[in-house]
Amino acid sequence: MIFLNNIYKSFSNKPSKKVLTNISLELQDKKIYAFYGSNGSGKTTLFKIIAGLIAQDSGSVAFDPVKSNVCYVASNQRAFINRITAYENLDYFFTARTGRKFIFNKRLKQIANILGLSALLDRNVSNLSTGEIQKLSILRALIYKPDILILDETFVSIDEVSIKNIVKILQEEIVNNSLKNVLISSHDINFLKQSSDSILHMESLNAG
Ligand SMILES: Nc1ncnc2c1ncn2[C@@H]1O[C@H](COP(=O)(O)OP(=O)(O)OP(=O)(O)O)[C@@H](O)[C@H]1O
Ligand SMILES: [Mg+2]
Repeated sequence: MIFLNNIYKSFSNKPSKKVLTNISLELQDKKIYAFYGSNGSGKTTLFKIIAGLIAQDSGSVAFDPVKSNVCYVASNQRAFINRITAYENLDYFFTARTGRKFIFNKRLKQIANILGLSALLDRNVSNLSTGEIQKLSILRALIYKPDILILDETFVSIDEVSIKNIVKILQEEIVNNSLKNVLISSHDINFLKQSSDSILHMESLNAG
């Protein structure tokens, strides 16, 4: 579970204008939560605070269990090493993050296959398309076995069939594996309705 308690955040260029105002939320396990709201309403800021990438001005973020493994996947993520293969990237980032040897197990192979990535893993990342890199970002997040997975507009360049497959994979990971929460943001309300258990409106959260 994720507990957000009275979160406030402003940026130093506009200290008087709060991006996040008194956000309090309890996010239950085994659910996909969608965050919906206009540009600049604070979705990315809130996600980064939950992932520990930036600090809130006040308020608290807590997890149950306390040591939950949170993984944030940004939109248009190009944070790969371009001149080595997709597989070498998975191997490199897994060991860098966990200190353990990467094992490409049956489930990961199955996910790569469903995402249409199997045949691309021995290609340099520089030779992959935008959507393929987005899918590789999601696969890379799943190899860490996160408790909480945050997908911040990660579906922008991904085709409709692949999106359906990814949502199915996420639901399976929630039911069968250790994934507890998925937080997603998108400007496509129909997609959010189909893919999430609950839609949270940033503007309403901020009004609280
Ligand atoms: N590092 C920063 N410095 C200054 N202002 C920032 C910073 N990061 C975000 N902001 C501002 O904070 C507000 C919230 O930004 P945020 O990225 O959280 O919005 P968002 O809801 O994710 O928007 P979008 O739908 O466009 O992705 C915006 O007005 C943005 O300009
Ligand atoms: Mg954003």
